[in-house]
Amino acid sequence: MDLTTHYLGLNLRNPLVASSSPLNLDVGNICRLEEAGAAAVVLPSIFQEQIEFEAAETERLTSAGSESYAEAASYFPSAASYRAGPDAYLEIIRRARQAAGIPVIASLNGITRSGWIDYAKKMEQAGASAIELNVYYIPSDPALPGAEVEQRYVDVLRAVKAAVSVPVAMKLSPFFSSLGHQVRQLEAAGADGFVLFNRFYQPDIDLVGMRLLRDLELSQPAEVRLPLLWIGTLRSQVKASLAASSGVDSSDDVVKYLLAGADVVMTTSALLRHGVAHMRSLLSGLIGWLEARDVGSVAEIRGKLSQDRVRDRTAYQRANYINILQGWQQPR
Ligand SMILES: Cc1cc2nc3c(=O)[nH]c(=O)nc-3n(C[C@H](O)[C@H](O)[C@H](O)COP(=O)(O)O)c2cc1C
Repeated sequence: MDLTTHYLGLNLRNPLVASSSPLNLDVGNICRLEEAGAAAVVLPSIFQEQIEFEAAETERLTSAGSESYAEAASYFPSAASYRAGPDAYLEIIRRARQAAGIPVIASLNGITRSGWIDYAKKMEQAGASAIELNVYYIPSDPALPGAEVEQRYVDVLRAVKAAVSVPVAMKLSPFFSSLGHQVRQLEAAGADGFVLFNRFYQPDIDLVGMRLLRDLELSQPAEVRLPLLWIGTLRSQVKASLAASSGVDSSDDVVKYLLAGADVVMTTSALLRHGVAHMRSLLSGLIGWLEARDVGSVAEIRGKLSQDRVRDRTAYQRANYINILQGWQQPR
């Protein structure tokens, strides 16, 4: 069975990727995921604030120390020559690359273009196989026009692309007024791939305690549908890689995303829910599905049901909604 997959210019042994989460900050877990069949892992995002905080702290310590104690200059390199960054994260990239044979993708979160982008270069130097830009950002300021928000994504991508030569993927949310246009703009600005979609953290309300709940809910398989719609729609319209992210629980979900046109299928919630060994059942389920249909390679099914390849193209569009409603029976 030929499962080989190309994603962001990387050659992967299959299309299964462990998406960004704290699970992958542990090198032991990365090795277990590799053993269970993962073809690549994405580290959790390091946030612009973390990088800037460390840089500011180092700057503060360095200048305070230098002013107070002459000998301090021998402890701290000068601020100009030393860009602080969360060194532990870089160390995990290094150790993961030594311990595992699969690509390790680092993830950066930021929304402004500034010095922290140099950190992308450090990720590359530490051995990151690619960088995922998780532009997790809720534009809660009503004075901010949509076009400006879109431009920020492009600016951040351009700045990171200028800093590194490894491939860069954009992890997006579905909340754009014209997602296809945004994807095209980002592709023109150099994006090597798109991860569709990130899940925004959304608070709930605790009615007993009358307070906001800051818990994190794992995804459900029904969440496959939105990324499926967009991957199926965009597949023929972009050359960049497409990664599906959200809702994968079983190998059926993996097959659906591949049929829609995903290059790789990512999973986090299922691994947190069932353990890292669940990767093995996703892989064996995928192989079983292909074998049962006498399909010799994953490439044969990839995109087979994307918008440009299905007979009824409206299946991905609003018109289909009307058809469904016309035939819909109210449940008794
Ligand atoms: C506990 C947890 C932590 C996560 N941390 C990150 C992160 O640091 N960066 C990121 O881009 N996505 C992060 N995600 C999002 C996942 O990578 C993934 O895109 C999302 O959960 C949808 O996939 P799933 O349905 O397979 O969980 C996190 C998800 C969870 C559940």
